[in-house]
Amino acid sequence: MTIKPILIHPDPRLKKLAAPVPDLSDELRQMADDMLETMYDAPGIGLAAPQIGVSSRLIVMDCVKEEGAPRQPTVMFNPEIVAASDALNVYEEGCLSIPDQFAEITRPAEVTVRWLDMNGREQQREFSGLWATCVQHEIDHLDGKLFIDYLKPLKRQMITRKMIKLKRERARD
Ligand code: NI
Repeated sequence: MTIKPILIHPDPRLKKLAAPVPDLSDELRQMADDMLETMYDAPGIGLAAPQIGVSSRLIVMDCVKEEGAPRQPTVMFNPEIVAASDALNVYEEGCLSIPDQFAEITRPAEVTVRWLDMNGREQQREFSGLWATCVQHEIDHLDGKLFIDYLKPLKRQMITRKMIKLKRERARD
């Protein structure tokens, strides 16, 4: 497995609509494994293919936070939200493409998601709590949307300026 570099906002590749995965291949499964490895290494609880510069509808997640609890690596190809609750939930979100920036975002508290698993089998499940927030955040990435897009323009611009500065600093080192 390979740890991939994660793109930092602003980057045009993070704003693109990702294409559906037509057929599962060994190459795509390998990419999913690499993304899980990259996510655990970061560390993070979710990662979408556009964040490593791949414009495909593929996300990985593991929202188990308790120390010592078994991992729940979750891979979704072509994930789709098929139902969302009226009830809302607020979580303080962050993103591996926007390091060290957090903001409270309101989203449906429960969502039903349909996707293809690593074996190409269709799965459907209802998510709540942190999993529900995470899966919506990751699917947003596939549509070129970041959590800061939910913020007021001024706050978003402030964060973007910080990221431009961070990228400049990283390029220098
Ligand atoms: Ni993110």
